[in-house]
Amino acid sequence: MTSVQKITKRQFITFEGIDGSGKSTQAKRLVAHLTSLGHDVIHTREPGGSAGAEEIRRLLVEGDPDRWSAETEILLFTAARRDHLEKTIIPALAAGKWVVSDRFADSTRVYQGATRGDLRGIVDALHAQMIGVEPDMTFIIDMDPVAALSRGLARKSGEDRFEDFGLDFQERLRQGFLDLAKDYPDRCRLIDGSRGIDAVSADITAVFE
Ligand code: ADP
Ligand code: TYD
Repeated sequence: MTSVQKITKRQFITFEGIDGSGKSTQAKRLVAHLTSLGHDVIHTREPGGSAGAEEIRRLLVEGDPDRWSAETEILLFTAARRDHLEKTIIPALAAGKWVVSDRFADSTRVYQGATRGDLRGIVDALHAQMIGVEPDMTFIIDMDPVAALSRGLARKSGEDRFEDFGLDFQERLRQGFLDLAKDYPDRCRLIDGSRGIDAVSADITAVFE
């Protein structure tokens, strides 16, 4: 198995935030921007981003909210992340490519670690054992959950398990991401996602000019 720790980190960028905050829209914009600057960029996502992890994704995002406990989710998300790392992220970084991912380990820290009891210790221990990689830069898109939820539910994708936990859950997530930005000030940048797509995008692409 590839040793995760041996990989030299380069251009690994992640987007985090509550459901519907605009992560995938902004990730696409950033990928286009970096590509226009001449970089070789891959756009990936979690849960998913490799064939095996996409299979695990279906278990996680479909079905009843109480289908899995938070503890079981930690194991499934971490299994998916390990496959994503081995098959997609590490090979791309090793080849000198940039990697832009919709979500990564910060989502587990917040969704599983801080919303249904304090499970952060378990999340951190498993992360250290099985993942051991942090992004070089993380954009946390912050916005009001009411507005974000209406965007998200409007999509009706059939992948609504986490949206179906409801508004209180989304409020706890928002606070969890704000706390995370304070915990990791060097790599995390907080972005106001309540504005129009172009205004949000301008803040993000400006970092790479
Ligand atoms: P996420 O990946 O965070 O769930 P998306 O990028 O898929 O969010 O955006 C959710 C929905 O909101 C999509 O329909 C998208 O077109 C729309 N959207 C994204 N950003 C904005 C924005 N700044 N203002 C208004 N609508 C937006
Ligand atoms: P995603 O497809 O990014 O959803 P959205 O576009 O609505 O933001 O992620 C699917 C769901 O999985 C999302 O509700 C967040 C959740 N999730 C976790 O709970 N823990 C994790 O570690 C990850 C990566 C995602």
